[in-house]
Amino acid sequence: MVRENIVLPSNFIYPLFIHDEDFNHSIPSMPGCERHSLDSMLAEIGEAWEEGVKTFVLFPKVDDALKTNLGVEAYNPEGIVPRAIRMIKEKYPDSIVVTDVALDPYSDQGHDGVVEDGKILNDVTINQLCKQAVCQAKAGADIVAPSDMMDGRVGALRDALDAEGFTDVSILAYTAKYASAYYGPFRDALDSHPGFGDKKTYQQDPANGREALIEAELDAAEGADMMMVKPGMPYLDIIRRLKDYSPVPVAAYHVSGEYAMIKAACEKGWLDERSVVLETLTCFKRAGADIILTYYAKQAAKWINEDMENGLY
Ligand code: PBG
Repeated sequence: MVRENIVLPSNFIYPLFIHDEDFNHSIPSMPGCERHSLDSMLAEIGEAWEEGVKTFVLFPKVDDALKTNLGVEAYNPEGIVPRAIRMIKEKYPDSIVVTDVALDPYSDQGHDGVVEDGKILNDVTINQLCKQAVCQAKAGADIVAPSDMMDGRVGALRDALDAEGFTDVSILAYTAKYASAYYGPFRDALDSHPGFGDKKTYQQDPANGREALIEAELDAAEGADMMMVKPGMPYLDIIRRLKDYSPVPVAAYHVSGEYAMIKAACEKGWLDERSVVLETLTCFKRAGADIILTYYAKQAAKWINEDMENGLY
């Protein structure tokens, strides 16, 4: 009766790794997650729906032969992401499909943007991202989520989508995405470790909290419909600050490294997985997140539903 926050399956966005193979690939640093064939992706979505999870974000592993500095494969209408979106919309039309907008899966440089002389070209990259987002919208994406961290991309994406008639496609901005070591397992999953250097010239310094408010102000002015903080657990203070500031819903990304830490400790018998996961997700809500991206989405929804049936939630 007096509980202030409650996590529901409808709060989750379930990230799915996909590739163009007819088998699944296990991810050693993310036990319990797989890189899915498109058929297996559909099956996984079906299982998640059974638990009340209806929103999915897709992360592709692209063949090395298709990678270029300009990342042109990112806007191939027959590329893996547009095909996956169409399959999802056909089989589960009420799914909400979120797409990642960034060049890293398509870049032979292993960066989120176009590279010249070891530097990331902000505006050239934005031009590519606009083509990518429009291509995803044409395939049926409901929400585009720019994770690239270029300056000015939210406004440019809004204009590009509107110009093509996609006024009702929303933008979930990675507003405060930090240059974090917690992304390691994700990069293992997609074989997307940066080709050189790091991402510190475009992602935020973990030491900076107030800077997130500058990003939030810009993203709000440029038309972001939702704002994300990433990673999650070590950045609960940023979630709270954005929540206090932001006029739009706030999302938390419980990233791959956080997932891996919990999995590893639980495999050793040092933590109780169910309790620790539900506590963690509840803490995201307490910190101010309305939406939670988590690799635990399907499993946590199952636990929540069980607890509800047993009158324990
Ligand atoms: C890349 C991207 C990354 C993640 C989501 N989109 C990795 C990176 O920035 O290098 C990480 C997610 C996770 O660790 O779960 N655009």
